[in-house]
Amino acid sequence: MNEKNISVRLELKSRELKKEFAQLLSSIHGYQIKNIDNQGHCDLLIMELGDSVNGEFDLFRSLKATGEIGEVFLTSSSTNPAILIEALRAGAKEFFTQPLNREDVMASLLKFKDQWEGAPVIPQKTKKGKIINVIGGKGGVGTTTVAVNIAASLNELENVDSVALIDMNLVLGEIPLFMDLETSFNWGEVAKNISRVDSTYLMSVLAKHPSGVFILPSPTDYNGEKFADADTIEQLLEMMMRTFDYIVIDNGQSLNDISRKILELSDTVFLVSIPTLPCLINVKRLLKTFLRLGFHQQERVKIIMNRSHRKSMISIKEAEEGIGKKISWLIPNDYNSAMSAINKGKVLTEIAKKAEITKTIQKIAVTLCKGENRSNGKKSFWGRKPVFDGSKVKKY
Ligand SMILES: Nc1ncnc2c1ncn2[C@@H]1O[C@H](COP(=O)(O)OP(=O)(O)O)[C@@H](O)[C@H]1O
Ligand SMILES: [Mg+2]
Repeated sequence: MNEKNISVRLELKSRELKKEFAQLLSSIHGYQIKNIDNQGHCDLLIMELGDSVNGEFDLFRSLKATGEIGEVFLTSSSTNPAILIEALRAGAKEFFTQPLNREDVMASLLKFKDQWEGAPVIPQKTKKGKIINVIGGKGGVGTTTVAVNIAASLNELENVDSVALIDMNLVLGEIPLFMDLETSFNWGEVAKNISRVDSTYLMSVLAKHPSGVFILPSPTDYNGEKFADADTIEQLLEMMMRTFDYIVIDNGQSLNDISRKILELSDTVFLVSIPTLPCLINVKRLLKTFLRLGFHQQERVKIIMNRSHRKSMISIKEAEEGIGKKISWLIPNDYNSAMSAINKGKVLTEIAKKAEITKTIQKIAVTLCKGENRSNGKKSFWGRKPVFDGSKVKKY
């Protein structure tokens, strides 16, 4: 247990801000603000960024490198996300925008003190989020459409607080396009910083879609180098499970050591198919591959038949016989809704609330949330219960 006071150096431009931080620090036992002349080592530097941001980043990088400072908290009146991103990249532990949110600052100071004292760090959340892995039987079958809209529908449920959506399609990741989002971080970069990834870090680097879903896109600048190994992805997912209720993964068609690890960690695997022979053959191959890879929890694997329609050449029964597994969900063919959602960068519940495609995906989300394995009750053509239970949806 560390009983020494935590020495803090304040590098703040305005007197008011200095006063505010001094007040907050003095309200917690164990912090000691250093005398201005007494430079030397400090355990915590709280620094305000001014106009020459680059110079200031260089300064604290070099101070950190020489061991003259322990951790750094930054503050700035700028709301430019580029500054926040650069601050996190440079290794700042916390970043406070101005005007200060005193509760946030207090929470950060208390957390830092707990860690400093070697007190057992109380996990920020005792969540054990669930991993929903969406895999396509083929390209173009609707894997991204299904993943994006399951994530958004889960997030709309009353008893779900937070949902993240990860794009595992290297280079060709489309989630930011589907959601009309500009993103600055991808999982390749987060994986590089894995030693400092905690919930605070995650919440600051993930992009938030207006639907409320947090997005972690895939790296798009592939140069042949590995972005992460399976162990790092496992650590990242473990942290995400502590932070989010659900982590939906658009796995596309990847089959490598990372996707194998994700498979292992998945609570539910949705295999997306369409009613065509080549796709059904692929789905059957994938099911066998899962077994060969050592993933024997077949009950966790659910088949989604997307773009299903009554006049399909292949009946549901034939498809099930061919694959050798029941089809859990039928998502109707609705090109207009699916395409206009993509073109508008919106999710289906925003643009086609009443469409059957939307209601089916909402039903999948409700079923996931209830922990049921398969749609039940009276089956309509789409395998849904007759009425979607709207009471479970958050009210806006
Ligand atoms: N249920 C559906 N009905 C009609 N079109 C769909 C449906 N689901 C997806 N699509 C369309 O299929 C195309 C491919 O979808 P996408 O989600 O990008 O597939 P993938 O991720 O498997 O490549 C898109 O044009 C999309 O609008
Ligand atoms: Mg896709």
